[in-house]
Amino acid sequence: MKYKQMVTRRNFLKQGSLITAGLAVNKLGSATAMSAESYRRVEGANRKINLACVGIGFRGGEIIKEFDKTGLANIVALCDVDMGAEHTREIMGKFPKARQFKDFREMFDKMGNEIEAVTVGVPDHAHFPICMMAMALGKHVYVKKPMSRTFLESELMIQAAKKI
Ligand SMILES: NC(=O)c1ccc[n+]([C@@H]2O[C@H](COP(=O)([O-])OP(=O)(O)OC[C@H]3O[C@@H](n4cnc5c(N)ncnc54)[C@H](O)[C@@H]3O)[C@@H](O)[C@H]2O)c1
Repeated sequence: MKYKQMVTRRNFLKQGSLITAGLAVNKLGSATAMSAESYRRVEGANRKINLACVGIGFRGGEIIKEFDKTGLANIVALCDVDMGAEHTREIMGKFPKARQFKDFREMFDKMGNEIEAVTVGVPDHAHFPICMMAMALGKHVYVKKPMSRTFLESELMIQAAKKI
Protein backbone atom coordinates (compact mmCIF):
# COMPACT_ATOMS: atom_id res chain seq x y z
CA MET A 1 0.00 0.00 0.00
CA LYS A 2 1.22 3.48 -0.88
CA TYR A 3 1.96 5.89 1.96
CA LYS A 4 -0.50 8.53 0.73
CA GLN A 5 -3.28 5.91 0.75
CA MET A 6 -2.34 4.86 4.27
CA VAL A 7 -2.67 8.39 5.54
CA THR A 8 -6.10 8.88 4.03
CA ARG A 9 -7.47 5.68 5.49
CA ARG A 10 -5.82 6.17 8.84
CA ASN A 11 -7.46 9.52 9.40
CA PHE A 12 -10.76 8.27 8.11
CA LEU A 13 -10.82 5.37 10.53
CA LYS A 14 -9.53 7.50 13.38
CA GLN A 15 -12.42 9.91 13.05
CA GLY A 16 -14.95 7.09 12.93
CA SER A 17 -13.63 5.27 15.95
CA LEU A 18 -13.55 8.44 18.00
CA ILE A 19 -17.18 9.10 17.27
CA THR A 20 -18.60 5.65 17.84
CA ALA A 21 -16.11 4.28 20.37
CA GLY A 22 -15.92 1.13 18.30
CA LEU A 23 -12.76 -0.70 17.29
CA ALA A 24 -10.92 -0.08 14.06
CA VAL A 25 -8.95 -3.07 12.87
CA ASN A 26 -6.10 -2.02 10.66
CA LYS A 27 -2.36 -1.81 10.71
CA LEU A 28 -2.30 1.93 10.44
CA GLY A 29 -2.58 2.77 14.10
CA SER A 30 1.18 2.93 14.28
CA ALA A 31 1.47 5.49 11.48
CA THR A 32 3.08 8.75 12.54
CA ALA A 33 0.62 11.46 13.51
CA MET A 34 0.51 14.42 11.13
CA SER A 35 -0.51 18.02 11.63
CA ALA A 36 -3.63 19.24 9.81
CA GLU A 37 -1.42 21.36 7.56
CA SER A 38 0.81 18.41 6.63
CA TYR A 39 -2.23 16.27 6.03
CA ARG A 40 -3.78 18.80 3.65
CA ARG A 41 -0.67 18.60 1.48
CA VAL A 42 -0.94 14.82 1.04
CA GLU A 43 -2.13 14.08 -2.48
CA GLY A 44 -5.67 12.69 -2.45
CA ALA A 45 -6.21 13.49 1.23
CA ASN A 46 -9.56 15.09 0.52
CA ARG A 47 -10.78 12.24 -1.64
CA LYS A 48 -13.74 10.30 -0.26
CA ILE A 49 -13.37 6.64 0.63
CA ASN A 50 -15.76 4.15 -0.96
CA LEU A 51 -17.44 2.60 2.03
CA ALA A 52 -19.56 -0.55 2.18
CA CYS A 53 -21.75 -1.01 5.24
CA VAL A 54 -22.73 -4.42 6.57
CA GLY A 55 -25.50 -4.22 9.16
CA ILE A 56 -27.48 -1.04 8.58
CA GLY A 57 -30.10 -1.14 11.35
CA PHE A 58 -29.80 -0.09 15.00
CA ARG A 59 -26.10 0.34 15.98
CA GLY A 60 -25.05 -0.49 12.42
CA GLY A 61 -27.13 2.45 11.22
CA GLU A 62 -25.67 4.80 13.82
CA ILE A 63 -22.15 3.98 12.63
CA ILE A 64 -23.07 4.79 9.04
CA LYS A 65 -24.55 8.15 10.01
CA GLU A 66 -21.43 9.08 11.98
CA PHE A 67 -19.12 8.14 9.11
CA ASP A 68 -21.32 10.11 6.72
CA LYS A 69 -21.00 13.17 8.96
CA THR A 70 -17.21 13.17 8.51
CA GLY A 71 -17.72 14.07 4.84
CA LEU A 72 -15.01 11.54 3.97
CA ALA A 73 -17.24 8.60 3.18
CA ASN A 74 -18.85 7.72 -0.11
CA ILE A 75 -21.42 5.08 0.84
CA VAL A 76 -21.40 2.73 -2.14
CA ALA A 77 -23.03 -0.40 -0.72
CA LEU A 78 -25.52 -1.35 1.98
CA CYS A 79 -25.87 -4.92 3.18
CA ASP A 80 -28.29 -6.33 5.73
CA VAL A 81 -30.07 -9.64 6.13
CA ASP A 82 -33.23 -7.64 6.86
CA MET A 83 -33.01 -5.24 3.94
CA GLY A 84 -36.38 -3.52 3.62
CA ALA A 85 -37.48 -4.23 7.19
CA GLU A 86 -38.61 -1.36 9.40
CA HIS A 87 -35.23 -0.99 11.12
CA THR A 88 -33.28 -0.76 7.87
CA ARG A 89 -35.48 1.62 5.89
CA GLU A 90 -34.05 4.84 7.30
CA ILE A 91 -30.53 4.14 6.04
CA MET A 92 -31.82 2.76 2.73
CA GLY A 93 -33.71 6.03 2.23
CA LYS A 94 -30.74 8.15 3.24
CA PHE A 95 -28.41 6.54 0.71
CA PRO A 96 -30.60 5.68 -2.29
CA LYS A 97 -27.67 5.47 -4.71
CA ALA A 98 -25.86 2.78 -2.70
CA ARG A 99 -26.23 -0.73 -4.10
CA GLN A 100 -28.17 -3.07 -1.84
CA PHE A 101 -27.34 -6.61 -0.76
CA LYS A 102 -28.63 -9.18 1.71
CA ASP A 103 -25.45 -11.28 1.71
CA PHE A 104 -22.00 -9.79 2.31
CA ARG A 105 -20.38 -12.51 0.17
CA GLU A 106 -22.43 -11.43 -2.84
CA MET A 107 -21.59 -7.80 -2.09
CA PHE A 108 -17.85 -8.52 -2.18
CA ASP A 109 -18.24 -10.69 -5.30
CA LYS A 110 -20.04 -7.96 -7.20
CA MET A 111 -18.39 -4.83 -5.84
CA GLY A 112 -15.04 -5.97 -4.51
CA ASN A 113 -13.14 -3.71 -6.87
CA GLU A 114 -15.04 -0.57 -5.86
CA ILE A 115 -15.07 -1.01 -2.09
CA GLU A 116 -12.16 0.43 -0.10
CA ALA A 117 -13.39 0.08 3.48
CA VAL A 118 -16.18 -1.67 5.33
CA THR A 119 -18.22 -0.98 8.44
CA VAL A 120 -19.42 -4.02 10.35
CA GLY A 121 -22.37 -3.28 12.63
CA VAL A 122 -23.97 -6.72 12.91
CA PRO A 123 -24.42 -8.98 15.97
CA ASP A 124 -21.20 -10.22 17.58
CA HIS A 125 -21.25 -13.75 16.15
CA ALA A 126 -21.06 -12.43 12.58
CA HIS A 127 -18.11 -10.06 13.08
CA PHE A 128 -15.45 -12.68 12.41
CA PRO A 129 -16.56 -14.04 9.00
CA ILE A 130 -17.39 -10.60 7.61
CA CYS A 131 -14.18 -8.94 8.84
CA MET A 132 -12.01 -11.83 7.69
CA MET A 133 -13.48 -11.82 4.19
CA ALA A 134 -13.12 -8.05 3.94
CA MET A 135 -9.50 -8.09 5.09
CA ALA A 136 -8.63 -11.05 2.86
CA LEU A 137 -9.73 -8.81 -0.01
CA GLY A 138 -7.54 -5.98 1.27
CA LYS A 139 -10.37 -3.83 2.66
CA HIS A 140 -9.98 -1.79 5.80
CA VAL A 141 -12.54 -2.58 8.46
CA TYR A 142 -14.37 -0.71 11.19
CA VAL A 143 -16.10 -3.22 13.47
CA LYS A 144 -18.24 -2.55 16.50
CA LYS A 145 -17.08 -3.80 19.86
CA PRO A 146 -16.78 -6.51 20.95
CA MET A 147 -14.45 -7.27 18.07
CA SER A 148 -15.08 -11.02 18.30
CA ARG A 149 -16.38 -13.78 20.56
CA THR A 150 -13.11 -15.54 21.38
CA PHE A 151 -9.41 -14.82 21.85
CA LEU A 152 -8.62 -17.03 18.85
CA GLU A 153 -10.96 -15.10 16.58
CA SER A 154 -9.41 -11.84 17.75
CA GLU A 155 -5.88 -13.15 17.19
CA LEU A 156 -6.75 -14.29 13.67
CA MET A 157 -8.36 -10.92 12.92
CA ILE A 158 -5.27 -9.07 14.14
CA GLN A 159 -3.05 -11.26 11.96
CA ALA A 160 -5.29 -10.60 8.95
CA ALA A 161 -5.22 -6.85 9.60
CA LYS A 162 -1.42 -6.87 9.56
CA LYS A 163 -1.48 -8.26 6.02
CA ILE A 164 -3.63 -5.50 4.51
N1 LIG B 1 -27.12 -2.02 20.83
C1 LIG B 1 -26.21 -1.34 21.55
O1 LIG B 1 -26.53 -0.49 22.36
C2 LIG B 1 -24.76 -1.62 21.36
C3 LIG B 1 -23.84 -0.92 22.10
C4 LIG B 1 -22.48 -1.16 21.88
C5 LIG B 1 -22.09 -2.09 20.95
N2 LIG B 1 -23.01 -2.79 20.25
C6 LIG B 1 -22.54 -3.76 19.29
O2 LIG B 1 -22.93 -3.31 17.99
C7 LIG B 1 -23.18 -4.44 17.17
C8 LIG B 1 -24.58 -4.34 16.60
O3 LIG B 1 -25.50 -4.34 17.67
P1 LIG B 1 -27.07 -4.18 17.38
O4 LIG B 1 -27.72 -4.21 18.71
O5 LIG B 1 -27.34 -3.02 16.49
O6 LIG B 1 -27.35 -5.56 16.57
P2 LIG B 1 -28.67 -6.05 15.81
O7 LIG B 1 -28.94 -7.46 16.17
O8 LIG B 1 -29.77 -5.06 16.02
O9 LIG B 1 -28.20 -6.03 14.27
C9 LIG B 1 -27.74 -4.86 13.62
C10 LIG B 1 -28.10 -4.97 12.14
O10 LIG B 1 -27.38 -6.05 11.54
C11 LIG B 1 -28.26 -6.82 10.71
N3 LIG B 1 -27.67 -8.15 10.57
C12 LIG B 1 -27.69 -9.18 11.44
N4 LIG B 1 -26.95 -10.23 10.97
C13 LIG B 1 -26.44 -9.81 9.77
C14 LIG B 1 -25.59 -10.43 8.80
N5 LIG B 1 -25.09 -11.66 8.96
N6 LIG B 1 -25.29 -9.73 7.68
C15 LIG B 1 -25.79 -8.47 7.48
N7 LIG B 1 -26.61 -7.84 8.37
C16 LIG B 1 -26.91 -8.50 9.50
C17 LIG B 1 -29.60 -6.71 11.42
O11 LIG B 1 -30.68 -6.94 10.55
C18 LIG B 1 -29.58 -5.26 11.90
O12 LIG B 1 -30.06 -4.37 10.92
C19 LIG B 1 -22.99 -5.69 18.06
O13 LIG B 1 -21.67 -6.18 17.88
C20 LIG B 1 -23.16 -5.14 19.46
O14 LIG B 1 -22.50 -5.90 20.45
C21 LIG B 1 -24.33 -2.56 20.42
